[in-house]
Amino acid sequence: MNILVSGGTGFIGSHTCVELIEAGHEVVIFDNFYNSSPETVDHIETICGKRPKLYECDMLDEAALDKIFDENDIDAVIHFAGYKAVGESVAKPVMYFHNNITGTLCLLRSMTRHNVKKLIFSSSATVYGVPEFVPINESSPLGVTNPYGRTKLIIEDMLRDLCASDPEWSVVLLRYFNPVGCHETGLLHENPKGIPNNLMPRILQAAKGEIDHLSVFGADYDTKDGTCVRDYIHVVDLAKGHVCAVEYSEKNNGSVAINLGTGNGYTVFELINNFEKANGIKVPYVVEGRRAGDVAQCYADTALAKELLGWEAKLGVFEMCRDSWKGANI
Ligand code: WQD
Repeated sequence: MNILVSGGTGFIGSHTCVELIEAGHEVVIFDNFYNSSPETVDHIETICGKRPKLYECDMLDEAALDKIFDENDIDAVIHFAGYKAVGESVAKPVMYFHNNITGTLCLLRSMTRHNVKKLIFSSSATVYGVPEFVPINESSPLGVTNPYGRTKLIIEDMLRDLCASDPEWSVVLLRYFNPVGCHETGLLHENPKGIPNNLMPRILQAAKGEIDHLSVFGADYDTKDGTCVRDYIHVVDLAKGHVCAVEYSEKNNGSVAINLGTGNGYTVFELINNFEKANGIKVPYVVEGRRAGDVAQCYADTALAKELLGWEAKLGVFEMCRDSWKGANI
């Protein structure tokens, strides 16, 4: 299939482009490079020997989107483009609503004008808000605790309405848990602009001595060691899940939400210990107060992904830690 990937030079997008190409699909990327760089296409080509077509464009520019669809016979879209920093979204909600929601509407309008009605959407476990139980399955109640999560939930709801209005649409809503790691070459490592919010990039900075220590946000939660539990998933496994979702969308219409996680939860201390063992390096840390908005436990029930997509995560926490460290030192 000919797949258009929005945000395709980003961390998850670029890994997905590699897996799509290696699965035999043709890939076209558009990105505005807000949180990535065009050089990523060189790395994709180095890894899989094929260079995806790249358009520099903002999803709010409908004329630019129409040009892409006019020039390429697109079969399906994988939609990654969007702002994704929880803390920033709290400070700048309108910026998040406009970019993520209006941008998605512009993309959907352009797709409709070109009769492209297959979409894989980059959603997030954040739509579950404070989970009532773990592991979390796709029927768990939805609720959000920040504007970023609200954009994901609103877009999910818009896509469910769209599928209800037109049975020709096929939409797969992939709810990611905590992506970490990078391709074994280290070439597609996370390269967040500014100060990263997420745990693994901060572990890497502490391990490299770029920061004095990692701040562990709270060790007084009701968990096995007091720190929060999360479902860390290797980004290559996550990318492979998108290839399975594209193939599912070829045979199925309507909308479906699917968790992409490993089904295993690790505490912050466990991730630090696994990182130290995998890489033979110490991670200096200091336990500090809780971070606002954190939930004690969040990990996936992965049965539906296995049932519908025939997909399950294969890489473990050792590979996640090893590959993260490799990517940080390339
Ligand atoms: C994980 C754990 C922190 C940093 C977020 C988004 C979610 C998704 C994934 C996009 C928590 C602790 C963290 C640090 C720490 N993103 N931590 N010190 O919050 O589970 O999910 O990223 O879809 O939408 O909400 O990930 O990596 O920020 O935190 O102790 O410096 O690590 O308290 O318990 P989170 P995270």
